[in-house]
Amino acid sequence: MRSSRILSLGRHLPSRVVTNDELGELLDTTDAWIRKRTGIRERRWVVPEDGGPADLAAPACREALDRAGLTPSDVDLVLFATLTPDRTFPGSGCLLLPLIGCEGTPALDIRNQCTGFLYALSVADQFVRTGAADHVLVVGSEVHSTGLDLSDAGRHVAVLFGDGAAAAVVGPGTPSRRIHGTVLHADGTHADVLTTTHPGSRHHPRLTAAHLEAGLHFPRMDGRRVFRMACEKVPDVVHELLQLEGACLDDVDLLVPHQANQRINAMVGERLGLSPDKVFHDIATLGNTTAASIPLALYDAEAQGLLTPGSRILLTAFGAGLTWGASLLTW
Ligand code: ACO
Repeated sequence: MRSSRILSLGRHLPSRVVTNDELGELLDTTDAWIRKRTGIRERRWVVPEDGGPADLAAPACREALDRAGLTPSDVDLVLFATLTPDRTFPGSGCLLLPLIGCEGTPALDIRNQCTGFLYALSVADQFVRTGAADHVLVVGSEVHSTGLDLSDAGRHVAVLFGDGAAAAVVGPGTPSRRIHGTVLHADGTHADVLTTTHPGSRHHPRLTAAHLEAGLHFPRMDGRRVFRMACEKVPDVVHELLQLEGACLDDVDLLVPHQANQRINAMVGERLGLSPDKVFHDIATLGNTTAASIPLALYDAEAQGLLTPGSRILLTAFGAGLTWGASLLTW
């Protein structure tokens, strides 16, 4: 069976930069608190003209296709990972297609939050390996800023999230440049530690003025539990993946984790015994962009010359669901 690899990356960020100091004018927080707890200095937030996740994704997809030397007609499948879809339905993948000239191409939305990109990458890998597709456009795109609770009750969540999009073209690999494998997990037992419950089809009706008044349309998070579970589950899934692939941590040149909190990633690196220079961070300028964070981090790592042909890259993610996973690639 053939293999697959990431052929190219593209990204698009809203131009509005929101610093911690600016957030301090909107809600009761400080630059010092945010930096110390999360490593974040600033993030991007959309303005109304930027549109939604599909609009942010379109330039990222165009860049990724250009860099792969491909045209929209070469795309066999679009996978769109997001937890902030443009609409309840149809999916953001469908909305993206006419923006990039891919009308008629199958599109699948992936709703696995911070692990969404790894789920999408794994699906793309299977399609390419089996020959069902030659080129899959894998997108992570989020607009969080329009749905954050800027009151005191929501400040521990509001300071974390940023908007942005990135895309990867996944196509045929070679024996020396390929996705080795991905291990994925999910468990709804702890769904309530990080969730937005309204509007939801289990509520009669889905959204009322009382729901809005109570702020039920905002994300709720037990940050400490998320922090603790991420620090346990991510090292476990890395060991599971390395064992399956017959690899070891000494083989890893760079860990590119989902950027949820710099302290989580530093602790995961420490627990795995990786030296700090092998753990990539770009959360300082982007915040947590959930499904977009891993492809955005790959884009930044490549721009910094950290991804060269033959480098062994470990990707990890943990987030709402709960969902978590890891992928091993040779770039
Ligand atoms: N500014 C200032 N003070 C704040 C803020 C803020 N933005 N937010 C909370 N505080 C206060 C609290 O009120 C509390 O005050 P108190 O001691 O007087 O009660 C104090 O700071 C400590 O609050 P904690 O919530 O316990 O702070 P903690 O050290 O746990 O840090 C944080 C909070 C940064 C959210 C951390 O728990 C974290 O990063 N958790 C992981 C979150 C995460 O990764 N989420 C995304 C997963 S991705 C996905 O799937 C969407």
